[in-house]
Amino acid sequence: MRITIFGSGYVGLVTGACLADVGHDVMCVDVDADKVARLEAGEVPIYEPGLESLIRQNRAAGRLHFTTDAEQAVAFGLLQFIAVGTPSDEDGSADLRHVLKVAETIGRHMDDYRIIVDKSTVPVGTASRVERAVAAELDRRGVALDFDVCSNPEFLKEGAAIEDFSKGARIVVGTDAERVRSAMRECYAPYSRQKDKLMFMGVRSAELTKYAANAMLATKISFINEIANLSERLGADIEEVRHGIGSDPRIGYHFIYPGCGYGGSCFPKDVKALAHTAEQIGHPAEMIAAVERVNARQKSRLFEMLCQAFNGQLAGKTIALWGLAFKPNTDDMREAPSRALMEALWEAGARVQAFDPEAAGECRRIYGERDDLRLASQRNEALEGADALVICTEWKAFRTVDFAELRESLASPVLVDGRNLFQPETVKAAGLAYYAIGRGDSV
Ligand code: UGA
Repeated sequence: MRITIFGSGYVGLVTGACLADVGHDVMCVDVDADKVARLEAGEVPIYEPGLESLIRQNRAAGRLHFTTDAEQAVAFGLLQFIAVGTPSDEDGSADLRHVLKVAETIGRHMDDYRIIVDKSTVPVGTASRVERAVAAELDRRGVALDFDVCSNPEFLKEGAAIEDFSKGARIVVGTDAERVRSAMRECYAPYSRQKDKLMFMGVRSAELTKYAANAMLATKISFINEIANLSERLGADIEEVRHGIGSDPRIGYHFIYPGCGYGGSCFPKDVKALAHTAEQIGHPAEMIAAVERVNARQKSRLFEMLCQAFNGQLAGKTIALWGLAFKPNTDDMREAPSRALMEALWEAGARVQAFDPEAAGECRRIYGERDDLRLASQRNEALEGADALVICTEWKAFRTVDFAELRESLASPVLVDGRNLFQPETVKAAGLAYYAIGRGDSV
């Protein structure tokens, strides 16, 4: 099957590579000529385990192409995926400029029936807007051509995107056209052979499914963080509480890990966008708004703990920070809790010495060279001359620590653990003050 994908960002590249890998002919198109040139040269601009080799193999097999030529791309595929970015506008709503621009481009160049597939996360009602944009362009050209628009949201996690694409729980397609159903069945057949994972539903239901899934997951995180904060004040240990509630299958163990707040490009943006949509239709979503507020507060917890440890005297202190990425196995720092912490520390006159296995380059790109930031190339280098250590991301490499050695390296014996990686007794036995999330008397 011939497939075109607009947008060679995270979602577009993963979708393109995975669909090529099962034998489809895929053309990825992007307006960024530099990015396309790099991809053509075999260089993948993002870090995602397995993606680079998948792209390399499928390019070599002649099934995956990159171009800036939109006209050629529209002519190429029966399916035209839209996988461009939908950043948050200032008011929290999703900015659909790029999506609608692609719709217009497709309308401008198509000369045969096309199925337009909304892959980007877009507010309910966007498929209708895409339809109108394509129709307006066809009208302008004075041509009458048939086309369909469907919704096919993605449920990929960064760091596990390829696995999620091939082994995800479901493939949601919103459409009421039989022609679309049969084309999407063909497109995804290799990925739903073992179990029919394709779920067809109405377009608006598919659009809302994506937001509801992310809002539900974000709710679980804010909920457990709220209970963690109560735990801390009530002398309970959230890790015990987590075990206690997770054992009930109606609750489950997934996604109830307390921490320093959720980040990334999806949850913060999607929760805000859903809250905004709810406002717009005159039905403010109380819970969704609270999820967002709780998370904003949670992101300041690590700084509060440092203030507590140093009696508010952070000016002139050097804080070691392990983990910059918003979660392990990615170099993505969008909305990462590490950023809220670093910015608060700088504001308070402290210096940061940070180590992250993947995100140092990204950190340099965001903050540039500054006197109060040193990016270490090893975790122990970040400890040199530091007063305290804070862990923001639960990279596997941070799970084993020689606490006696750590105690020796730090000027003050303070370990702030934003991911509850250790047993409080073990840390405290080494003579360190241990600040963790929701762990009662450990603080
Ligand atoms: C998320 C969803 O998990 C995907 O299903 C969805 O497709 C994607 O957004 C999207 O909309 O594109 P992602 O942002 O890559 O994926 O990251 P997650 O692994 O879900 O983690 C999000 C944040 O929640 C991280 O900051 C993580 O540290 C935090 N988290 C997660 C917790 O604090 N506690 C938990 O128990 C789980």
